[in-house]
Amino acid sequence: MLTDWNKIDKFAKEWLQEARSKIIASFESTLTITTKSDANDLVTNMDEEIENFFVTNIRNQFPSHEILGEESIGHEIEQLDGVVWIIDPIDGTMNFVHQKRNFFISIGIYEDGVGQLGYLYDVVHNELYYGKKGEGVHCNEVKIPPIKDVPIHEAIVGISATWLIENKDTNKGEALIELVKDVRGTRSYGSAALEFSYVATGRLDAYISMRLAPWDFAGGKIIIEELGGIVTDLDGKALNLLEKSPVLVTSSGLHEQIFKSYIKK
Ligand code: IPD
Ligand code: CA
Ligand code: CA
Ligand code: CA
Repeated sequence: MLTDWNKIDKFAKEWLQEARSKIIASFESTLTITTKSDANDLVTNMDEEIENFFVTNIRNQFPSHEILGEESIGHEIEQLDGVVWIIDPIDGTMNFVHQKRNFFISIGIYEDGVGQLGYLYDVVHNELYYGKKGEGVHCNEVKIPPIKDVPIHEAIVGISATWLIENKDTNKGEALIELVKDVRGTRSYGSAALEFSYVATGRLDAYISMRLAPWDFAGGKIIIEELGGIVTDLDGKALNLLEKSPVLVTSSGLHEQIFKSYIKK
């Protein structure tokens, strides 16, 4: 049977609205904050509640769909056959806890490994970036134009200083330091989904992260590619949707310049 993407899109948008209401309401109550891999790897009751909300709704409405979520409420998946929702219920949990802004909900929906629907939701500003394969990208009702190329010396690049310092001894680290010296400026926002949306809208010209998980890039990859941009690892290879990876997000021209002049493959 043919997949009804309009139906999936309609439900995804409804659930995103509801999830937003829950998150905004949570600002009035006390969060339960715990840590995961280390003392700075935060998770809250809302990360779990929002993922649970999506998982319950998807299982009721689309029982044959698979789910991969950061908080592991869906079960682990080992292959990408069929329809798979890749969900980050709150991307930028540290910002959510400390700033109550600069965090997104991120969802990518794939069929047999091919991106079909991508959502990056700026909850606080109520701005939903959504891309549908072959139909372009919108922010709320406004269509977003394709990503423009800029020369390196005019580029603003999203990159974390912490990552740059930690990786300075590797080959890639040295190349990235040279790149950072040549670009117009760097920024670090602490939410991969936000940074993908900024590349989509030209607020950033590139975003580089040393290690992202599938739920950090699944939604953004669909949106960037739909706008003619490129998402690869730091060797220029396609990302594996089941594995963590370094990630480079740019326009196609900038991607070429970065590999030609800085990162030697
Ligand atoms: C994190 C954010 C951050 C990135 C980290 C991610 P989380 O996601 O996207 O910007 O640098 O690698 O883990 O844990 O807040 O959903
Ligand atoms: Ca996390
Ligand atoms: Ca994340
Ligand atoms: Ca998260």
